[in-house]
Amino acid sequence: MSRALLAALALAATTVADTCDTVASQTSITILNPLTLAYTESQGEYWSTACSDLAPSCILEPETTAEVAAIVSILRDNNETFAIKSGGHNPNNYFASVEGGSQISTKSLNEVIFDPATETVRVGPGNRWDDVAAALDGTGYTVVGGRIGNVGVGGYLVGGGLSFMSAQYGWAANSVVEYTLVLANATILTVSETSYPDIFMTLKGGGNNFGIVTSYLLQAYPQGDVWGGNLIFDATPENSAALLAAVRDFTEYYPDEKAAVIVTAERTLATLADIWVMFLYYNGPDVPAGVFDNFTAVPHITDTTKTQTYSELVSGNNWSVLKGQVYTIGTETTPLPSAADGPEIMGAIFDHWVNVSDTAALVPGVVASIAFQPIPKQLASIARSKGGDMLDLDADVDRIMFELDYSFLDDADYATIDTTMRDTYGGFQSIVQGYQASGMLPADAYLPLFQNDCFYPQNYFGRLRPEKLALAQQVQAEVDPDGFWTERTGGFKIPA
Ligand SMILES: Cc1cc2nc3c(=O)[nH]c(=O)nc-3n(C[C@H](O)[C@H](O)[C@H](O)COP(=O)(O)OP(=O)(O)OC[C@H]3O[C@@H](n4cnc5c(N)ncnc54)[C@H](O)[C@@H]3O)c2cc1C
Ligand SMILES: *[C@@H]1O[C@H](CO)[C@@H](O)[C@H](O)[C@H]1NC(C)=O
Ligand SMILES: *[C@@H]1O[C@H](CO)[C@@H](O)[C@H](O)[C@H]1NC(C)=O
Ligand SMILES: *[C@@H]1O[C@H](CO)[C@@H](O)[C@H](O)[C@H]1NC(C)=O
Ligand SMILES: *[C@@H]1O[C@H](CO)[C@@H](O)[C@H](O)[C@H]1NC(C)=O
Ligand SMILES: *[C@@H]1O[C@H](CO)[C@@H](O)[C@H](O)[C@H]1NC(C)=O
Repeated sequence: MSRALLAALALAATTVADTCDTVASQTSITILNPLTLAYTESQGEYWSTACSDLAPSCILEPETTAEVAAIVSILRDNNETFAIKSGGHNPNNYFASVEGGSQISTKSLNEVIFDPATETVRVGPGNRWDDVAAALDGTGYTVVGGRIGNVGVGGYLVGGGLSFMSAQYGWAANSVVEYTLVLANATILTVSETSYPDIFMTLKGGGNNFGIVTSYLLQAYPQGDVWGGNLIFDATPENSAALLAAVRDFTEYYPDEKAAVIVTAERTLATLADIWVMFLYYNGPDVPAGVFDNFTAVPHITDTTKTQTYSELVSGNNWSVLKGQVYTIGTETTPLPSAADGPEIMGAIFDHWVNVSDTAALVPGVVASIAFQPIPKQLASIARSKGGDMLDLDADVDRIMFELDYSFLDDADYATIDTTMRDTYGGFQSIVQGYQASGMLPADAYLPLFQNDCFYPQNYFGRLRPEKLALAQQVQAEVDPDGFWTERTGGFKIPA
């Protein structure tokens, strides 16, 4: 070996510190190493098995904000990639997962502390929403959070957060009153509307571009029993038409702000089993007449709706989280068509989805789903009245935000499904633009993408209002001038 090469190796050994080794030697932070049971179990805590298959060199489990800051300091001194993981429910590879670098798991940052005096709850990002709901059960209060209990707190809130209570209280992020944030230079900030208004705004839908949130202080709301559950329908042409009309009407006439639905069509392509699965929610023990009648009137094969605690409802929805498959997620947004144009436009979107999902029919185990998520003007108004967020919806139009999912068995088919996913939402955008050009949909509607449902190539930041993008760029220049979060970890990035 040449002297030069030896010198280079010696230099590498001293200057390129391995994050895991340095954390082990310099701190008492819990470390899970490969080939241990704890590491393997933790790697199982992803929604998508493709994320589980990305193997970090170690998993770090800090218990305090100071320990998170210590890890960031160590990372600053090397050039390794890393991941920040909360619930692991974002299925985009490398967003909360990493191959070879360290993974910072927020699992042990799992406080849930209710303060009745201020009607707030301090929640750590290591919780899942069913943990939070369970901890608050019996207090008479809850917080605005995920619709499916298994989703994590950390990623959900920095992505905005769509809740069953969003027509009542806005995006979940609109009810965050304070963030504890570890910056790229390891400084710990307490971020509120008054202390750092710009950072406060950018954290409400800015993803992981500004730091690691180690604690959220959330506004609490009085909470009693709720009514809800699922209806399942055969996807006959008549049922599909009736459900598409019902969800369109529901979005426009929004009969009651305490009501929410997710209307999901699902195709198991190998068995040609096409169904609709609907999630219903009413924030009270009894539903007033008329609220869900257009849905319940459609003949259904299963009905699990009942009065229950909020905690029971949120954890009950966990049935829909199937493990053991590769998942992809994607989205697009449409202004709501008028009642007159609804059948044509909703039908065109649905038909496009059916057609494109057919092209993936030979992928083993493939299941396609599309969720119609009503985003009424009411939600936009309440979000702004609570101080706003990065999405900054106006109340000029009602909207539907689609959540698209394809799940399948083998990671080897990822490239095929990647194309299918892009074709699905790309086709939606073309359909919407076509109807905008012909005057059937409002041409000037602002149509951002919902970050929590975005596929990795989607241009989340680029679809925001220019002033919100500019704010993100400005705050990034202030708190991350060296591009630490941009270069070293995954997630949606702020374009320059
Ligand atoms: C079954 C299912 C149901 C869903 N339902 C909803 C829903 O009702 N409403 C909704 O809005 N979304 C929903 N989603 C989408 C979900 O909100 C996003 O996937 C979200 O990113 C998951 O949050 P997590 O904490 O589990 O994410 P993770 O996968 O752990 O992280 C996602 C991203 O957030 C970053 N991140 C995580 N924690 C922090 C932190 N503490 N500080 C800074 N950055 C952090 C990660 O680095 C990563 O980039 C659902 C997803 C699934 C799979
Ligand atoms: C850090 O790593 C990236 C990606 O591997 C590489 O492009 C970059 O040059 C490295 N920077 C330094 C300072 O080593
Ligand atoms: C139910 O459907 C009818 C049309 O069939 C419509 O007039 C009514 O507004 C709908 N109700 C709701 C709550 O959407
Ligand atoms: C969903 O919640 C139930 C009840 O809290 C829990 O037992 C179960 O493990 C959760 N399911 C998943 C997939 O995490
Ligand atoms: C779907 O495919 C059918 C059959 O090929 C075709 O007639 C129809 O126009 C397609 N619809 C859309 C919206 O792409
Ligand atoms: C860390 O970054 C913040 C935001 O840019 C800055 O205000 C602070 O002075 C920095 N702290 C140190 C120790 O460099």
